[in-house]
Amino acid sequence: MSLKLSILGLPGAGKGTQADKLSETYGIPHISMGDILRNNKEFETESGETVGEIIDAGNPVTAKTCATLLSTRLDEPDCADGFVLDGFPRFQEQAEIMDDVTGIDAILLIKVDEDNILERLTKRRICPDCDASYHLKFDPPEQDEICDNCGTELVQREDDTAEKIEERISWQRDGIEEVLTYFDGDEDTPVEVVNGNPPISEVWNNVQEVVEKHVN
Ligand code: AP5
Ligand code: MG
Repeated sequence: MSLKLSILGLPGAGKGTQADKLSETYGIPHISMGDILRNNKEFETESGETVGEIIDAGNPVTAKTCATLLSTRLDEPDCADGFVLDGFPRFQEQAEIMDDVTGIDAILLIKVDEDNILERLTKRRICPDCDASYHLKFDPPEQDEICDNCGTELVQREDDTAEKIEERISWQRDGIEEVLTYFDGDEDTPVEVVNGNPPISEVWNNVQEVVEKHVN
């Protein structure tokens, strides 16, 4: 079995949530560009700013820094049979890098109405230790504010405030359009679109249906 998938979608679309389910189902790693960056906050970028300063402000990290950190992760042995890449590429420049470095089987675009985003992200909680993600209403942990996997106290992401969410949406909306334009008509990299507005389990049923076609 082999599957190389990239998931696109606005903040709160459910990229990470669906990527975790795909990872478990197909036994391939969930590679989250955002998690990699959050775990490398001290990394100094070309501008002299650290990764942490950029992501906590809700701004995009440079393609070069993303590509450097990502390629180190993709070289690890657990990626040999594929991966679910969440949050890369986000611009045309990154799409070109991905095309050169790692062929992927398909792109999954999860579309979400902007009205749903704020509630999803302001009530999200993450585990600072194992990167697990929850939602206080839609996907709560068994014990209030405690990670089911490792028992660590959950935290809110620095960039999950109304102002920074707005910032993230504005540049990501344009970036997704660039990536879709780049792959438009490319038969080797088909784009599958799933409605991300229904409940998590319903989105998951639809994700499975479209992804199954691309498993080798
Ligand atoms: P990243 O961590 O990727 O953030 P994002 O793109 O803003 O996406 P989110 O993680 O907020 O949303 P998601 O789609 O994963 O939603 P989730 O499944 O968690 O990137 C963070 C930052 O890193 C960027 O701002 C940038 O600074 C930098 N960065 C990353 N990649 C970069 C790149 N390629 N280039 C440059 N910079 C980059 O779901 C959200 C919540 O909703 C959860 O609580 C979940 O339980 C809940 N939920 C999910 N689905 C549903 C549903 N169907 N119904 C109800 N609730 C749901
Ligand atoms: Mg995410």
